[in-house]
Amino acid sequence: MAVNDPLHVNESGLPLNAIEWLETHHRSKMPEREQMIRDISFKHGSYIVDAGCGPGLWTPLLARAIGYQGRVLGVDVSPEALVTAYKRMHGQRYERIVKYKRGLLEQLPVPYDSVDLIFSANVSQYLPEPVTTFASMGRYLVPGGRLVIKDIDFGTMRFHNIDTALQARVFQARERWEQVRVDAGYSFEDSWVGSKLASYMRSAGFEEVQEKSYRIVRNFPLSQDFRFYLQGIAEWFVSEDPPLLHPEDRNHWLQYFEDGEQCVLDKHNFTSEETEYVVTGVWNRTLPTVRHFDMYFNTLKEVLV
Ligand SMILES: C[S@@+](CC[C@H](N)C(=O)[O-])C[C@H]1O[C@@H](n2cnc3c(N)ncnc32)[C@H](O)[C@@H]1O
Repeated sequence: MAVNDPLHVNESGLPLNAIEWLETHHRSKMPEREQMIRDISFKHGSYIVDAGCGPGLWTPLLARAIGYQGRVLGVDVSPEALVTAYKRMHGQRYERIVKYKRGLLEQLPVPYDSVDLIFSANVSQYLPEPVTTFASMGRYLVPGGRLVIKDIDFGTMRFHNIDTALQARVFQARERWEQVRVDAGYSFEDSWVGSKLASYMRSAGFEEVQEKSYRIVRNFPLSQDFRFYLQGIAEWFVSEDPPLLHPEDRNHWLQYFEDGEQCVLDKHNFTSEETEYVVTGVWNRTLPTVRHFDMYFNTLKEVLV
């Protein structure tokens, strides 16, 4: 089934800007996310773009990290996400230094050579041409400015009390499906992107590329937020009736996560783990031409209107 708006919609029923989903996901991983922000070592007073800010969950963390002398611009293609982000910040401590604008990652609404750091979380998984997009983002950085990309990698996901062979079949089916689903009219997704980010960033021309990984482990008893997150993810893995997975495997998998007697989430031996990646690179390039990028933007704009 083709979708109307390939940038906004994830066909599993989780629109990219599904606010409740993103908020719960954010809360469920807050300790790791706060650690990621601490590890980035922001300079006080910097100018930061939160690229693909969605409903603005990271923006307050970024604002706090740079202090009142800094500025944060949240950019997203979705007007609905921007309205939510604006409302979230309204009346909050760092509101004065935060603004939001509609725009694309590939064509940020700021002058070239103007931004100290571009931060982008959970967006690279939707980029069909990550190297081109990262390089185009570089143009907006001051010389020596940093691009920081954070994303998931479901190649690292494990559930300790679920049949390992079944897990392998479910994950492999989804990974293979993501490689071909665009041909079936679905929008691009690479949920295995995290461990590829450093290589993409180097190919895009960034220097001093550094990768940090964050292992997210949760044991029984789970918080409500993490339970909601895992149930959503479990459904998502087998959504779209992935043709590469046997229907029996799909049913077994779903039974494990549904509320009820068989639910693995409520067992004392439950443990889940996954690893998320934060990759940083420094931009020192001056690009001889922007024509290549502009051709790419024009294609994106046609998709958007
Ligand atoms: C999964 S959400 C992540 C939101 C937020 N960064 C977070 O981690 O909570 C992805 C966001 O990226 C936006 N997006 C995807 N592709 C984009 C592009 N090329 N330019 C601008 N925004 C984009 C979507 O509209 C969506 O709000």
